[in-house]
Amino acid sequence: MNGTVDALAPTSRWMAAARARESERADRLFDDPLAAALAGPEGFAWLEQMEAAAGSDGPGLYPVIRTRFFDDFLLDSCRRLGVRQVVLAAAGLDTRAFRLGWPARTRLYELDLPEVLSSKEDVIGEAGARPNCERLTVGVDLQEATWPEALVACGYRPERQSVWLIEGLLYYLTRPAVRGLLEKVRSLTAANSLIGLDVMNRGLFFSPVAWPLRAALAWRGAPGRFGTNDPETLMARHGFDADVTQPGEAGANFGRWPTPRLPREVPGLPRSFLVRGRRSIVSKRARNLRPRFSAGLRR
Ligand SMILES: C[S@@+](CC[C@H](N)C(=O)[O-])C[C@H]1O[C@@H](n2cnc3c(N)ncnc32)[C@H](O)[C@@H]1O
Repeated sequence: MNGTVDALAPTSRWMAAARARESERADRLFDDPLAAALAGPEGFAWLEQMEAAAGSDGPGLYPVIRTRFFDDFLLDSCRRLGVRQVVLAAAGLDTRAFRLGWPARTRLYELDLPEVLSSKEDVIGEAGARPNCERLTVGVDLQEATWPEALVACGYRPERQSVWLIEGLLYYLTRPAVRGLLEKVRSLTAANSLIGLDVMNRGLFFSPVAWPLRAALAWRGAPGRFGTNDPETLMARHGFDADVTQPGEAGANFGRWPTPRLPREVPGLPRSFLVRGRRSIVSKRARNLRPRFSAGLRR
């Protein structure tokens, strides 16, 4: 494992701190009772420093909106669409296995660096928390070639439908690493499998507004590397039809997003995209002849 990857591990504490703070609100979008202990003082320090750098509560609010958006997506995939294999890639200190109501026989795999998962187990063990599904942790480096074998060795069945989540990771990866990861996910997913992920746009890398936060992250060894203005094409290249939502839009607002929705046609602005995809089963030509699946995923 290299130093660059190691430096990304503490970003999971920042996310946990954001979820802990959200859990204290009367109008919370979710309740994550383990988050404060998982974040620890380091997580709250990250959260405060990132908000100070950004000059806004965006570094705390974005993960909260994203968490609830993908809570809804994962539960919908399992409850309504019948999926029973859930894979959280770069799961970090995510506690969905414990706090969401999964259907019977759901298996949830958490993939992250071994040291992240082991410190998480300490906190979970101390709290005596019990998952609401069959939970399996897989300590791997997602930039290495062998992680799919480790997942399969834990019981994951590529030939069965699955739902994947890659949340809070792609920003930190190089373009070849993003491509390599999505290609491996493609090789591990059966037709009609689902995927959720978030990705930044290119404008974020040029925006003076976003510069202080990017600089603060880079200073902590977690520089931004990847962004795309066209998540639909990125996903299509790797075998997924995608439905893209920006925070603040319907389904990703929850009455909490403070700024007006900025249409994608307006160029040059920093943006984040919440992406839901479905593994395509038909040729491109045939795909043009049928209604887009995304209508079915929207509520
Ligand atoms: C910003 S956190 C997001 C964690 C979680 N998905 C969430 O939203 O709370 C990024 C996570 O990516 C993990 N990560 C980064 N590079 C990785 C790699 N090469 N292999 C496995 N995990 C990695 C880090 O350890 C960290 O937990």
